[in-house]
Amino acid sequence: MTIQTRLSHCVATVSSLDARRRCRRRWPRPDDAPGGRAARIIATLTLTGAALLACADNRGKTPDLSNDPATVAQGKDIFRNDTFGDETQWTDTLRMHEVIAAAVDPTTALSVGLKVDAEALPPEVVQGIMAGAVDLKSPATTVTLLKLNAVVGVKGTVTTTNGVDSLTAVGITCALCHSTVDDSFAPGIGKRLDGWPNHDLDPGAIIALSPAVTPAQKVVYGSWGKGKYDPRYNLDGQNGPQTIPPAYGLKGVHRITVTGDGDEIAYWNRYVGVTQMGGHGRFSEPRLSLNVTNGTDDQISAKLAALQAYQLSLPAPAPPAGSFDATAAARGQAVFEGAGKCSTCHGGAQLTDANSRLHDPGEVVSEPEPNGAPSYASRTATKKYRSAPLHGLWQHPPYFHNGTAPTLEAVVQTYNTRKALGLTDAQAADLVQYLKSL
Ligand code: HEC
Ligand code: HEC
Repeated sequence: MTIQTRLSHCVATVSSLDARRRCRRRWPRPDDAPGGRAARIIATLTLTGAALLACADNRGKTPDLSNDPATVAQGKDIFRNDTFGDETQWTDTLRMHEVIAAAVDPTTALSVGLKVDAEALPPEVVQGIMAGAVDLKSPATTVTLLKLNAVVGVKGTVTTTNGVDSLTAVGITCALCHSTVDDSFAPGIGKRLDGWPNHDLDPGAIIALSPAVTPAQKVVYGSWGKGKYDPRYNLDGQNGPQTIPPAYGLKGVHRITVTGDGDEIAYWNRYVGVTQMGGHGRFSEPRLSLNVTNGTDDQISAKLAALQAYQLSLPAPAPPAGSFDATAAARGQAVFEGAGKCSTCHGGAQLTDANSRLHDPGEVVSEPEPNGAPSYASRTATKKYRSAPLHGLWQHPPYFHNGTAPTLEAVVQTYNTRKALGLTDAQAADLVQYLKSL
């Protein structure tokens, strides 16, 4: 990378003045920067510029601003509401606004796993739903919900002419796949739970509704099912859907995605924002010979620091009271660290060795892939797998990248068989209780 591109990369990943200030404080001073040419250029830069170049020497390192409430609040808004201009894909190309207005009534929307944010509903709408006065079988009601910004992860632009609402554009946000609701009002309707993967969502079924999708693509999209999405199919043409993972509990984990493609969350946010959501910006990955640019107005780079801060601020949720047997879990911890040999890979505070190494597919129990799909690792930048961080496991079955283990019992059984651990039934049961307690 030239100094110039490194500099612009750093400017791009450091969003606010506040971030620059922190950056100057935390990272090596310009005079530590190696290279005479760099030093000469630094000497001619302003103080802020010099700080940015120091950032550039740590390229790929977006500052951790998760302790800064203002930045976290900004990131929350981006996570929930920002489409990065992806209406270009979901409206102009896929024409989903027409599909929704014509055929997606709220009952259908809920059946493909879309969630409704109860806190965005005004009292009269809540009363109307409770009294049965709101027509949940009419697409017009969906348009009303979009106008209220009440459909989690879907942003609609609604214009009103002569009292009639029409949906003129639609886009998606991160919350579509990585938020759900607590069902406190009704199934699928409640308070937002950000970072919790939406395993009711059927992204393939939704995309397959688009008139722009070919019959062959429709077969692939239709094969994924709920809670699954293949974030590479549109690029490499291979079909191997991934379980939508949590976006919480990632603080201190410096290998992101199940194959550790990025050193930080922002890497993957840029990937998904550009290559999957269709947001305006640029993603390039030399290891995959991948270069994708959408639009000429970058609507992503400046938001990555705050977006990452928000995700880093989300802890893994604690297991509900009474959901595991504490005595058995304590015995299970001994199995985890002893006969099960789990802690040889799942060690440290986050229960992963991700920061020091990745694992060849041959060491990992979740391959071969189901349905004859190609190795997921083979399609990625690292070709390896990251030991999964294990906190919050109770919340997000099914397990492994391909969802091949429906329960924690199945996970333990898989390890016991594939790794020939020889655990007794009692040891296996205790280990399951320990995993439920994390
Ligand atoms: C259409 C569904 C979908 C959308 C939209 C989406 N993601 Fe994801 N996300 C996935 C899937 C599937 C993976 C798993 C990819 C992998 O591990 O290779 C993933 C992986 C991740 C990870 C990695 C988690 C880990 O354990 O390392 C993070 C963080 C994340 N997404 C955050 C986001 C953010 C932020 C956005 C918005 C910019 C976003 N995602 C948009 C489906 C989605
Ligand atoms: C050789 C290193 C290694 C050992 C030993 C190991 N794991 Fe793993 N573990 C991994 C990797 C890599 C993954 C990610 C695989 C995937 O997602 O397909 C993983 C995934 C998991 C998951 C799924 C997490 C999720 O979010 O879906 C669980 C649960 C788990 N391991 C528990 C255990 C237990 C229990 C043991 C001991 C019996 C164990 N592991 C031993 C490397 C290891």
